[in-house]
Amino acid sequence: MRVSATLPDSELPRQWYNLAADIPHALFPPLAPDGSVLRPEQLSALFPETLIEQEASSQRWIDIPEEVLEILARWRPTPLVRARNLERLLNTPARIYYKNESVSPAGSHKPNTAVPQAYYNKLAGTKRLTTETGAGQWGSALSFASAQFGLECQVFMVRSSYDKKPYRKVMMQTWGASCVPSPSPRTRAGRKILEAQPDSPGSLGIAISEAVEAALEDSSGKTHYALGSVLNHVMLHQTIIGLEAKRQLALFGERAPDTIVACVGGGSNFAGLSFPFIKEKIDGADIDIVPVEPASCPSITRGLYAYDFGDTAGMTPLLPMYTLGHTFMPSPNHAGGLRYHGMAPLVSAAAKQGLLRPQSISQVECFSAAVQFARSEGIIVAPETSHAVAQVIREAVRAREEKREKVILFGLSGHGLLDLQGYAEYFAGDIANMSLSEDELNASLASLPKVGPAL
Ligand SMILES: Cc1ncc(COP(=O)(O)O)c(C=O)c1O
Repeated sequence: MRVSATLPDSELPRQWYNLAADIPHALFPPLAPDGSVLRPEQLSALFPETLIEQEASSQRWIDIPEEVLEILARWRPTPLVRARNLERLLNTPARIYYKNESVSPAGSHKPNTAVPQAYYNKLAGTKRLTTETGAGQWGSALSFASAQFGLECQVFMVRSSYDKKPYRKVMMQTWGASCVPSPSPRTRAGRKILEAQPDSPGSLGIAISEAVEAALEDSSGKTHYALGSVLNHVMLHQTIIGLEAKRQLALFGERAPDTIVACVGGGSNFAGLSFPFIKEKIDGADIDIVPVEPASCPSITRGLYAYDFGDTAGMTPLLPMYTLGHTFMPSPNHAGGLRYHGMAPLVSAAAKQGLLRPQSISQVECFSAAVQFARSEGIIVAPETSHAVAQVIREAVRAREEKREKVILFGLSGHGLLDLQGYAEYFAGDIANMSLSEDELNASLASLPKVGPAL
């Protein structure tokens, strides 16, 4: 009986899928801070031309360069595994499959976009990349990819994760990158936060401000910024996950999943797995597509769909997205990669257009689900991924109660082997559910910029 479906190198998808070509209602454009429509060249201080073209593209299929495929082929196609032992544990008639992105060198899906981003930068003559990282997965992925193309890399890592996950920094150093805790005294944005709150735990929004500032201050133009989620080109690069998963489900004899689940921080692993299936849903397939976020950082389930900055200091363009407000300070939940105030414009548009069923879950349930998963399937997942696992368990239990056979596909976005501090605190009973009151939410939504049309 088949448990795992691996595909040969020859089956590696050779094109990415762009949901912008098929989403039913046109996307709202990004705006410049004065409210005018952003011109692509306004991004050229941050990104190379090819990535800017991909950002604005509505072409359905975009070729993956050979040089990128050659690197991705070291660990791709990633396995699609049937979680038989979890099914037995839950006594569910559901058939549960997970796409295991933890097998990449950095341990998550993030290298799927880090490699093409480093590649296009190298082609454009970039010498150095700056970026932010939450849990450290993206920072290590970009460090790895930069090493492949001989680029320098500087990573601003959210302070609370930096303190809890010291070995992520060592990984980045091993790949030749430097890693600084954020907020840092190196940038104006960091200094401003530190003056107001010297012990600030940091946030992804603050770290993005620092990394953008560090890229812009190099007047030679040889330093660019790279973002690990949120933007359209990042979603595009991740679609290799779902394209492979489709072929692998067929190897199991499955036609299509009934339910797709993935965790969402900025939206990229969710987009990667689900966008090729959203295309089928737009074409009439009946698929329940579920992004899962932390209850303490609930951008799609409780945020507003509005224009907002991607970072705390307001240095990025304004993006049309579900947001909690760019000044939102998420509580130090263990899933550092999900502590982001906004959501990718493409994922936000899909939610707004009724194609998704967003959910939020508190962290105690997530850790409990991750432990069940580790004891049944063996993989110790990242705290981010535990949100997907918790939702899958809810769906599988419901299938049992309804006596309904169904196919659940979920994204195993990364392993948690460098996140064991969170597991240790869970076993010690020191993990609490963090809530977000209406007052806190309203205070942060009040920071939304007053430009652009109401959405
Ligand atoms: C393992 C893992 N999963 C998920 C995420 C969330 O990011 P995204 O929503 O872009 O997939 C992160 C972000 O750091 C991550 O490290």
